[in-house]
Amino acid sequence: MKTQVAIIGAGPAGLLLAQLLRQSAIDCVILEARSEEYVLSRIRAGVLEHPTVELLHSIGAGDRLAREGLPHEGVDIVFRGEKRRIDFPSLTDGKTVTVYGQQEVVKDLIALKKDFDGQILFEAENVQLHDIESDSPSVRFTRHGEDVVLTCDFIAGCDGFHGVSRQTIPQDRLKLFEKVYPFAWLGLLAEAAPAQDELIYSYHQNGFALFSMRSPEVTRLYLQCHPEENLDEWPDERVWSELHIRLESGDGFRLNEGKILRKDVTPMRSFVCETMRHGRLFLAGDSAHIVPPTGAKGLNLAAGDVKVLNDALVAFFKSGSTDLLDAYEATALKRVWAAERFSWFMTRLLHKFPDGEPFDEAIQIADLDYFTSSEAGRKTIAENYVGLPFG
Ligand code: FAD
Ligand code: DHB
Repeated sequence: MKTQVAIIGAGPAGLLLAQLLRQSAIDCVILEARSEEYVLSRIRAGVLEHPTVELLHSIGAGDRLAREGLPHEGVDIVFRGEKRRIDFPSLTDGKTVTVYGQQEVVKDLIALKKDFDGQILFEAENVQLHDIESDSPSVRFTRHGEDVVLTCDFIAGCDGFHGVSRQTIPQDRLKLFEKVYPFAWLGLLAEAAPAQDELIYSYHQNGFALFSMRSPEVTRLYLQCHPEENLDEWPDERVWSELHIRLESGDGFRLNEGKILRKDVTPMRSFVCETMRHGRLFLAGDSAHIVPPTGAKGLNLAAGDVKVLNDALVAFFKSGSTDLLDAYEATALKRVWAAERFSWFMTRLLHKFPDGEPFDEAIQIADLDYFTSSEAGRKTIAENYVGLPFG
């Protein structure tokens, strides 16, 4: 098999890149380790930044998003039992975010790819990258018992944090940064109508809580918990009781309860692999960086990376110029570090640190007060939340 760009991973990064390349008639093949059903059922992100929504519209993946996505003009921040709103349009020249599940984005992108050329190879096992330092790299894998070699001009490593792409780069060439947080998120999906239209981020002495949604019938909720949390210790009654306590804001808000459809634990880490390019391998999305979910940035960062990578690949295939490819790492990292900073800031602002000193907690309250009352503070949150422009 032969293609121009071999894409490893059919998550948001890989699928978006494929669609962008198609618009410039560049050939690509996506290799995905999991089955299509598995990829379609993975519940993860929910908030799409303004630039991500624009990108999805520009590649023809915006129809259902426009119909079913929930536009949000602000978020509430609760601390000390008081609710304060950050209004996006008035603080960002009219920008908003859209709540639309990651699995819906993935579903729309898979449908588009199939409509045009059908080339997503699901259940590609034992994927290995070869000759990435040469001008003709290849990918070897096994599919339905058959060994396959795919030769290509470039490889896009879009295979997430645990993928094979980053691991193929020689250890001594990797420049890594990592921070692990002493807490995690217990994520819940409930069959209950969202009790208000906008998200609530809450700092509470018992720990952080987040109220979000997926549709007019489904609420998405998160509670700060221990990194090695045992789900047996979170029966439904405890979950609802903690949510009511942590989201209390004295304004009559009362969460609607319903059947809990799913419970999962998400560890929290900040991670950056500054080596986003090695030879003809380019990393994009979670394969190169992870943010703690508090700023809702992960999927949106993946979108930013692949937009920059697409522009560089298009320039190369149209004119032979390697300038943008050579600049890819530096261009992408600028936005990556901005989002890492914001995600770290929101995580530090809103979580209860298990061994926090009284001084640090007092500073945290002063920060919460400042960033939700001063216009400069609210603007900082709004501008980052709706999304900084793509590189
Ligand atoms: P992934 O989605 O991880 O996709 C990688 C793909 O590669 C997968 O399909 C995987 O199966 C495949 N793969 C892996 N290894 C191999 C291999 N060896 N061979 C072939 N294929 C392979 N982000 C936001 O922007 N907003 C949010 O609100 C938000 N909330 C989140 C909430 C939770 C609970 C979690 C867990 C994450 C959240 N995120 C959020 C982060 C977001 O989900 C990720 O950043 C996003 O999925 C990254 O996309 P990706 O395509 O880079 O990687
Ligand atoms: C959701 C996830 C986030 O990480 C976040 O900051 C806001 C919303 C969600 O899944 O809806």
